[in-house]
Amino acid sequence: MQFKATEDFSVMTLKKSVVVTDQLENVLGTVISSFPDDKLFLVMDRNSERFCLPLICDTPNIERFKKVVIPNGEEHKSLSSVEQIWLFLSQSGADRKSLVVNLGGGMVTDLGSFAASTFKRGVEFVNIPTTLLSQVDASVGGKTGFNFNGFKNEIGVINQPHQVIIDTRFLKTLDHENIISGYAEMIKHGLIHSQEHLAELRKFDLHRPDYAILQGMIARSVMIKEYFVEKDPREKNIRKALNFGHTIGHAFESYSLKKSQPLLHGHAVAFGMIAELYLSRLNCGFPDGILHHLSGWISSIYGKYPIETADYETFYELMGHDKKNEGKRINFTLITSVGEVEINRDCTKEQIFEALDYFRELNND
Ligand SMILES: NC(=O)c1ccc[n+]([C@@H]2O[C@H](COP(=O)([O-])OP(=O)(O)OC[C@H]3O[C@@H](n4cnc5c(N)ncnc54)[C@H](O)[C@@H]3O)[C@@H](O)[C@H]2O)c1
Ligand SMILES: [Zn+2]
Repeated sequence: MQFKATEDFSVMTLKKSVVVTDQLENVLGTVISSFPDDKLFLVMDRNSERFCLPLICDTPNIERFKKVVIPNGEEHKSLSSVEQIWLFLSQSGADRKSLVVNLGGGMVTDLGSFAASTFKRGVEFVNIPTTLLSQVDASVGGKTGFNFNGFKNEIGVINQPHQVIIDTRFLKTLDHENIISGYAEMIKHGLIHSQEHLAELRKFDLHRPDYAILQGMIARSVMIKEYFVEKDPREKNIRKALNFGHTIGHAFESYSLKKSQPLLHGHAVAFGMIAELYLSRLNCGFPDGILHHLSGWISSIYGKYPIETADYETFYELMGHDKKNEGKRINFTLITSVGEVEINRDCTKEQIFEALDYFRELNND
């Protein structure tokens, strides 16, 4: 199924439920004013408590919040952390009129949103994403959940936040690796939707980020994510565009985790995009010249990820485990050109191995 984005930025706007602002305290103050003072709950991890809480301390009535802090790190995106939040809500008198505010990266927003969505059959929640990845991806779109039985996001629900408030000031304490991890999802948004977004991303100086420029780029990136989510909230068809780079990317991510050299999600997706751009060339006629340009640019940001031919079968197997596959097919989202997406493309094992060859040659010298 082919899909070409029909809207350009001049006619796109953010939904009312997502605000990109440098007036965070005012926006949050307004949001919480419609909830009872004794029903406000704040979920953070240790890092967001340390680095991000100080940025919201001037919010009117902030002292009314009851706070819970969970340990940071993907390994704590677990049932026991969800339980910790449920217990805290239960013991602190939360009810259906309560508001849960999740302040943190994608780990906190996924987990806190899930806990809020299931507590007493669902209480309202607000996401304040504090990493670039969570600002442009995790905090919008309504996917919530946690890791279980060794599988990522094995348990979860889709439920939309009451409000998402994005402020780039949080990004100033984030390390470069986490910045570029989030940037990969922005690159993906450019590739699946818009030449214009891709062009601004290519111009941006990631080593000396101009946060005012970044703010505008984040807003446009979120608009692209929303554009696909709104058309297909439950990922039956075109929301799959957002999986570009992720089939091979997830295989790299799981593989490196098994080898105890975990890759950040965005880095895995960036590497996956290089291989899937090549597959797009093989399978959908993506132009050769642009492929080489884009792979060179992506490699210049993310560096090298050397792979061995001996591992191709393992990668292939891991791609087969992707939960977006139906039956035995390995399902790819590819692009015919920048902004033109093909979903549900089946690729042969030979094509996949050829794409891995292209990636290997680029990375092993
Ligand atoms: N729901 C979705 O649609 C969706 C989409 C993409 C990713 N995700 C999920 O998001 C998670 C990854 O998100 P992430 O990359 O934000 O990881 P993360 O939440 O683990 O954050 C990365 C690290 O940065 C720290 N941190 C957070 N904000 C900070 C700040 N402002 N300054 C300094 N340190 C800060 C965190 O404590 C953590 O140590 C994964 O669990 C993934 O499954 C969800
Ligand atoms: Zn992703």
